[in-house]
Amino acid sequence: MKTETERLPCVKAAKRRGEAIRQALKERKLLRTDAKITSDETFIYLPLIRTLTDAEIREIGAADLTTRDFTILERRKSIEDIVGLKPSYEVIGDIAVLTETIAEQKEQIVAHALMNCHKNIKVVAKRISAVEGVFRTRRLGIIAGEHRTETMHTENACRFKLDLEKVYFNPRLAGERNRVALQTASSREEEIIDMFAGVGPFSIQIAKRAPQSHVTAIDINPDAILYLRENMKLNGVRNIDAIEGDIREIYEKFRDTADRIIMNLPKSAYLFLGEALSILNPHGGMLHFYDLEFAYPEEGEEKHDALERAITQAKEKLIAKVQELDGESRSVEILEARKVKAYAPYAYIIGIDVKVRK
Ligand SMILES: C[S@@+](CC[C@H](N)C(=O)[O-])C[C@H]1O[C@@H](n2cnc3c(N)ncnc32)[C@H](O)[C@@H]1O
Repeated sequence: MKTETERLPCVKAAKRRGEAIRQALKERKLLRTDAKITSDETFIYLPLIRTLTDAEIREIGAADLTTRDFTILERRKSIEDIVGLKPSYEVIGDIAVLTETIAEQKEQIVAHALMNCHKNIKVVAKRISAVEGVFRTRRLGIIAGEHRTETMHTENACRFKLDLEKVYFNPRLAGERNRVALQTASSREEEIIDMFAGVGPFSIQIAKRAPQSHVTAIDINPDAILYLRENMKLNGVRNIDAIEGDIREIYEKFRDTADRIIMNLPKSAYLFLGEALSILNPHGGMLHFYDLEFAYPEEGEEKHDALERAITQAKEKLIAKVQELDGESRSVEILEARKVKAYAPYAYIIGIDVKVRK
């Protein structure tokens, strides 16, 4: 059989950084997955769907761009080719979770096609409930494969053991976690508090990239803290204190200490803003605040304009709320606000980086 080659833009990376960069490219859908990755003694060459923008180069940490001939792999049969529909699903570790309902008589066929096309998938499950309760967990039903909901997930070159029914985890936040971790990597020594840490995806990625800093990772869910402690060992990080507890009951211990706070509890983050401001270093600190906002287009308004309006509203609401809680004694500066992910039709998680100073 004749092999096809194509000259493609690519990232040339030192081998030790190859896997982290490959994942970052894949998450942003920038990697040409039909072209065979090559390497020599020192470098790995990662083929791209297009050349990268300066912002992408900075974000991914891919300094060296070049072009090279790559072998183009034969296209494998897709699930759509096999079952005649394109299922929506997300993969966490070796578990695929269907994210849209499929007619029951088709579930088994789709699940087995998924496992046949992706040999790394060992379990196919469906959602039985919405994300619910204080722990933000959901019930799943196994459709095919092994009967378990525990798995090992890799994200931005860190490993996370977790049980999808016992703890919250969303793989679509990988880019956001990478973004925040990169900020901490280039900052001075900081005290960082992850108020709603879950199994530690923010805390561990930060602790790994910012060894000069210390992270306090808090969660009310005992299972999340058990996994977080295990994940600290798995990733060889020691600069984290994992604490099981309700932040409302323990925040006083951390008064005036945090240079940076992560508040990833989008539906209720506002209920904890007072505690976050008490924890923040009075000389100034950064909040990574996640908010759920609805953006219904008004008559004649484009969807993206409605989203921009929602982002502006989210920024104004946060500034007003900080000033209300603080009696306008602090200065509030929004550094960045953007859509992190879609939550539901016309509902978005908005991420806001806000600097608060006395
Ligand atoms: C949306 S999840 C985020 C988890 C993690 N940051 C991540 O990115 O996967 C929110 C977490 O907050 C925890 N939580 C909810 N209320 C809490 C409280 N009052 N104090 C501490 N943790 C809380 C939940 O158990 C859950 O693990």
